[in-house]
Amino acid sequence: MTVRPILTAPDPRLQAVSTDVEAVTDEIRQLADDMADSMYEADGIGLAAVQIGVAKRILVIDLDQKEGKKNPVAYINPRIVWASDEVAVFEEGCLSVPEIWDDVERPARIKCEYLDRDGKAQLLEADGLLATCLQHEMDHLNGVLFIDHLSRLKKSMAIRKLTKAKKLAAV
Ligand code: NI
Repeated sequence: MTVRPILTAPDPRLQAVSTDVEAVTDEIRQLADDMADSMYEADGIGLAAVQIGVAKRILVIDLDQKEGKKNPVAYINPRIVWASDEVAVFEEGCLSVPEIWDDVERPARIKCEYLDRDGKAQLLEADGLLATCLQHEMDHLNGVLFIDHLSRLKKSMAIRKLTKAKKLAAV
């Protein structure tokens, strides 16, 4: 088990565009396990590799966490192949954007292709929280944070708050 530190905004490393995983090796599985450990340690439900500073297209999500029963799912090279016109609004937060939550509107349902931790191609249709979480995490792979979806005013307020929190933490 290796808990790795999670980067917080503003940090240029979070704006990196992640690259495809070329082969699902033991090293990639180890990275996915470290991501899951880091996510649980921080009480999160989803994490992208770039949030621990590795700009590869890997997500880990676990929406069904119960005491002692963890079921992290790794999504490697995920890609949205269909999105509904219907939208849904969820109040989002992010381990890389601490102490900030806001409503974000996204397609309510998506179909997503990805490789599982055995390197097998999978097609998933998702709705509800999973659809939102997958889209939020996939945004990370393109260097996008949920606050990038907010109005310019709300985003600049969020950045100011995050910058101030970092300065205080550095003292
Ligand atoms: Ni996030």
